[in-house]
Amino acid sequence: MDPRPIETALRVDVAAATTPDELEAVRVKYLGRKGVLTGFLRAIGQVQPEERPRLGAESNRLKTLCETLLAERAAELGVGDEVAYQRPIDGSLPATNGSVGRRHVISQTFRRIGSILEGMGYRLARGPEVELEYYNFQALNFPDEHPSRDLQDTFYVSNDILLRTHTSPIQVRFMQENKPPLKVYAPGRVYRNEAIDASHQAEFHQVEGLYIDTDVTMADLRGDLLLFLRELFGSDIQVRFKPHFFPFTEPSVDVDMSCFSCHGHGCAICGQSGWIEILGAGMVHPNVLRAVGIDPDRYSGFAFGVGVDRIAMIRYGVPDIRMFLTNDLRFLEQLTER
Ligand code: DAH
Repeated sequence: MDPRPIETALRVDVAAATTPDELEAVRVKYLGRKGVLTGFLRAIGQVQPEERPRLGAESNRLKTLCETLLAERAAELGVGDEVAYQRPIDGSLPATNGSVGRRHVISQTFRRIGSILEGMGYRLARGPEVELEYYNFQALNFPDEHPSRDLQDTFYVSNDILLRTHTSPIQVRFMQENKPPLKVYAPGRVYRNEAIDASHQAEFHQVEGLYIDTDVTMADLRGDLLLFLRELFGSDIQVRFKPHFFPFTEPSVDVDMSCFSCHGHGCAICGQSGWIEILGAGMVHPNVLRAVGIDPDRYSGFAFGVGVDRIAMIRYGVPDIRMFLTNDLRFLEQLTER
């Protein structure tokens, strides 16, 4: 009983197989119930007892070799897992971990902001990126001649359809369909015809907040923003309001937070001022409430708009807004959820 001719024939047969069916035929020829190796194993019973251990080991070796050759050939031929030529599994080998995807840093920031606001009682609202001019501007109390309506600032799809320039139109849509009290946040991508540089991009991301009820005041706005920013940047954050103008709020404010890095002393992150401009906000303009059929004498409310790219840049120390959409893996892989 010589195993060598069997091994040679096995190698030739495996190499000659070019289809899954031919491979299966080779498997049956060697490993099947009436196969060559099965016959070899049976024949061991006929030889001298002292010969048996060596031939038994040979038989095992040939069987493993056969399985290995079949599996390798199957892989070469691109035959999938459905064919049972798998190599015997060695559970002691180290795992080969494939690379695992992760959420984009902008998605991570959206989710962080969303989970904070949900914890504060805001519920999710959504709206379309291709929007009617009515919701993007008119209903938000933008005068007809407002410069942001200009082609230079807004991408128009047609006369009265555009790519939304902010997430504020979602406020209007939500108020149209729901009665106060209401408390929502609305995340999304927005578009502006910007001159592109390190802090401006033609597509970026915002989260809108809106709270309408009886007797809502600016103190409520301040309280919610303080809580929100402290969750996001740390419990010692302070906020300050500066007068500003938005058509859809009155009064309107620019909101600064104390620098999370130097705690107000002045550093490179806050431009030595101790404060970082972080979002816009205000009390919803009575005209906006009227446009959606909410009585401004009975209800009041506040709104705010957060720039998500800006938050991510500050949170992760990203120097250039364009890096978010360039999709350079060396950059993206550094930024994982903390
Ligand atoms: N929509 C504004 C923008 O894109 C951001 C904003 C400011 C939203 C104040 C608000 C707000 O709801 O009250 O610049």
